[in-house]
Amino acid sequence: MPRRPDVQRSIPTLRKALAQFRRRGETIALVPTMGALHDGHLALVRLAQKRARRVVVSIFVNPAQFAPIEDFSKYPRTFAQDMAALTAEGVDLVWAPTEKAMYPEGFATRIAPAGPANAGLEDRFRPHFFGGVATVVAKLFLQVAPDVTIFGQKDYQQLKVVTQMVRDLDMPLKVVGAPTIREKDGLAMSSRNAYLSAENRRIAPLLHRVMKDCAGKIKSGEPIARVMTNGSAAITNAGFGLDYFEARNADTLAPVTSVKDGPLRLLVAAKIGQTRLIDNIAV
Ligand code: PAF
Repeated sequence: MPRRPDVQRSIPTLRKALAQFRRRGETIALVPTMGALHDGHLALVRLAQKRARRVVVSIFVNPAQFAPIEDFSKYPRTFAQDMAALTAEGVDLVWAPTEKAMYPEGFATRIAPAGPANAGLEDRFRPHFFGGVATVVAKLFLQVAPDVTIFGQKDYQQLKVVTQMVRDLDMPLKVVGAPTIREKDGLAMSSRNAYLSAENRRIAPLLHRVMKDCAGKIKSGEPIARVMTNGSAAITNAGFGLDYFEARNADTLAPVTSVKDGPLRLLVAAKIGQTRLIDNIAV
């Protein structure tokens, strides 16, 4: 029977547990999560297992990355199921700090990411988000001191922000981006998919279909502006409230007008009912 991962909830006990790995010269991979794990997260775990001897998964629903009007209180918390999944995957350690351990009374320091964090994508609609992510991720890196960390490409701008932070602050670890895992109908896996009504769940995969179609048209030489305008209309006509659908340089996230400005990435954020979905695709 697989062994249940060691669960740590305070920084001193976490450090003690990690010291055992370090003493034996074992490398450590960190997979940061907010729990509500799905197959996309488990794919990150499997990639982590290929990259290091020991895998630590953090589970922490980070209040600092939610605006007051967002879904912090109703964000799905499924710790027992998460533990069962991580046990089956053979994860070594789960770092599930209490809110007090992460943000003790008097906590007053925040990372202010720029560059990709100001690309005019997620940051335009969630201005608080990347500061909250960068702060908690920097803390997780300092707490766990991993050799490598795995982030999903589904949160593409987040992956860029974390990569930039690690480079800028000389953090001694490697950031690996993992491909998005999709449902059979193309919907990108996300903990927030649990919010979708049956009707909206039926409509949701259209986002991926439109992105794929647009990527194909851009590749075959159609003008980017026209393709993106038509793609945006298709998304809106299906009943989504569109925040953005943009073609950007895949490395810098700078706006593009031609394939010569590439490599290109299409990025989308749209609301269906009360659920906000984000996704992206390479051209
Ligand atoms: O992508 C997420 O689940 C979160 O933004 C992260 C990286 C775990 C930080 O809270």
